Amino acid sequence: MDLSTPPPDLYGRPRADTFFRFLTAFGDRYSPALGSPLLRRNPRRPYSRPTEALQLVVTARRQVAADVVELTLADPSGGPLPGWQPGAHLRLTLPSGRERHYSLCGDPADGAEYADRTDRADRTDPAERSRYRIAVRRLPDGGGGSAEIHDTLHPGTRLTARRPRNGFAFCAEPAVLFLAGGIGITPLLPMVREARRNDLDWHLVHTGRSADTLPFAAELRALDPARVHLRTDDEHGGPPTGTELLAHAPRGAAVYCCGPAPMLTAVQRALDASPAASLHFERFGAAPVTDGEPFTVRLGADGPELPVPADRSALDVLREARPDLPYSCKQGFCGTCEVRLLAGTPDHRDRRLTPERRADGALLPCVSRAAAGETLVLDV
Ligand code: FES
Repeated sequence: MDLSTPPPDLYGRPRADTFFRFLTAFGDRYSPALGSPLLRRNPRRPYSRPTEALQLVVTARRQVAADVVELTLADPSGGPLPGWQPGAHLRLTLPSGRERHYSLCGDPADGAEYADRTDRADRTDPAERSRYRIAVRRLPDGGGGSAEIHDTLHPGTRLTARRPRNGFAFCAEPAVLFLAGGIGITPLLPMVREARRNDLDWHLVHTGRSADTLPFAAELRALDPARVHLRTDDEHGGPPTGTELLAHAPRGAAVYCCGPAPMLTAVQRALDASPAASLHFERFGAAPVTDGEPFTVRLGADGPELPVPADRSALDVLREARPDLPYSCKQGFCGTCEVRLLAGTPDHRDRRLTPERRADGALLPCVSRAAAGETLVLDV
């Protein structure tokens, strides 16, 4: 899936928790000055430092739904890969240079999770520790990343990736409801296997337009037919309501949801009246702009001015004039779309840039905006 992975805050909201935002900002600003080697290792620094890229090769490809392919990726020399946990994703650099995020949908318990955990390495076949699996739906209007994967990635194709990261961690609560919309099953599949292994009280609802669009349907049914509910729009006359989805929740359940924006909105609205206790979610692509004001971007000091409507992102407007402008997450956490601000007062809404980088003029136009009537002059 063309991933969007916004780490939710402590209450499942798609913004950083306020307390930790301030704590992180404090640490970024003051830890180097405090002199302690321990404090210098503040948690944001490693994240913004580039890490060595993983070299990968496609070793297998199979169709897992009408417009979804699953790729198996491995180290070209057959060596072990960095470990991961359910909910993690890979940032891939495709042969064209596009960067995209995809959830890992394999099973860490029979694979890479144990690669760097010597205490458990003896439980794992070494051959199984050197592969990642991702699944990608072809999106006709998705910016070309999924089309490139479908059209050009075959066994033998080389590509690079960053180590897996996890912004959608599974906490293995005693009662769990998994809600997947279409390709949103990919981060949930490893969680379902983990829940089953740990004898949790779990249920999964997997929704889609029709049966042939549901990836991994047979694999899911085989896990536990009594706990897996496949629900298609063509059989039910339309998409499910939030209430309908949450009706499968055991009392006090934690809900893990990954799917399109309307599904997440429906679940959020119905949560309070449901038996569920908490919600963790991962969104596809950009969140809808709900509190934007119209402003203007200018392309260079003397370039053309483009109006940004209240309900569109600056990135989407910029890409109409500069189609090559790179992007990936569209949610302000990967940094791929960074541009330089030459003039104007921005409203930074990302979760990536430090105060110092913002002061240097860095801006992420996928989420950042400006006040009504403001003009941002960008070096693009
Ligand atoms: S596209 Fe990821 S931060 Fe803008």
